[in-house]
Amino acid sequence: MSAIIIYMSLHGCAEKAALKLRDMHWDDVDLVNLKVQDPPPLDDYDTVIIGGSIHSGEIQGRIRKFCREHEWVLITKRLGLYLCHMQEGEAATRQFHEAFPQQLRNHAVAKGLFGGEFNLEKMLPHEKSLMKKAVGIDHSIENVNTKAIEGFGKVIFHLDKT
Ligand SMILES: Cc1cc2nc3c(=O)[nH]c(=O)nc-3n(C[C@H](O)[C@H](O)[C@H](O)COP(=O)(O)O)c2cc1C
Repeated sequence: MSAIIIYMSLHGCAEKAALKLRDMHWDDVDLVNLKVQDPPPLDDYDTVIIGGSIHSGEIQGRIRKFCREHEWVLITKRLGLYLCHMQEGEAATRQFHEAFPQQLRNHAVAKGLFGGEFNLEKMLPHEKSLMKKAVGIDHSIENVNTKAIEGFGKVIFHLDKT
């Protein structure tokens, strides 16, 4: 089974999730950061995972574009979609719905809301002041749902059946 994880990450949370998922697989998994790489043709892969993170309510534009442009190929794959985010509950679900096209959400065998982190050390000054103003946060917070990542990995890589 050949797999690829295509992701984008501003401060590293969605990237860490991609690395963790890769490490759960027994074989090579290709990792493509859309910020710095073009994705290879998807013909070689039967499993495709797409992950991004939410900033000001939106997933990265390149992830959105990639999903739109490859929708018809992606619905022929074993597909997983995940997000890093800080909002919880219905707000998180709504962001997931807005981040990925309906057809892909319906087709995906694994859908992940992984939580996220506010890493002040990695934020630019304007991001820090936005965080302080918008949500009153002036310190780093780690709220990644490791169990959600592991559960997602088990489903997408069939690990529960081995
Ligand atoms: C400037 C900024 C805006 C953000 N806006 C949102 C938001 O609208 N909704 C949300 O759930 N999380 C929001 N977050 C939290 C991020 O989704 C969270 O930090 C996530 O872990 C980022 O993942 P990344 O490091 O892979 O980009 C925001 C974070 C920053 C720094």
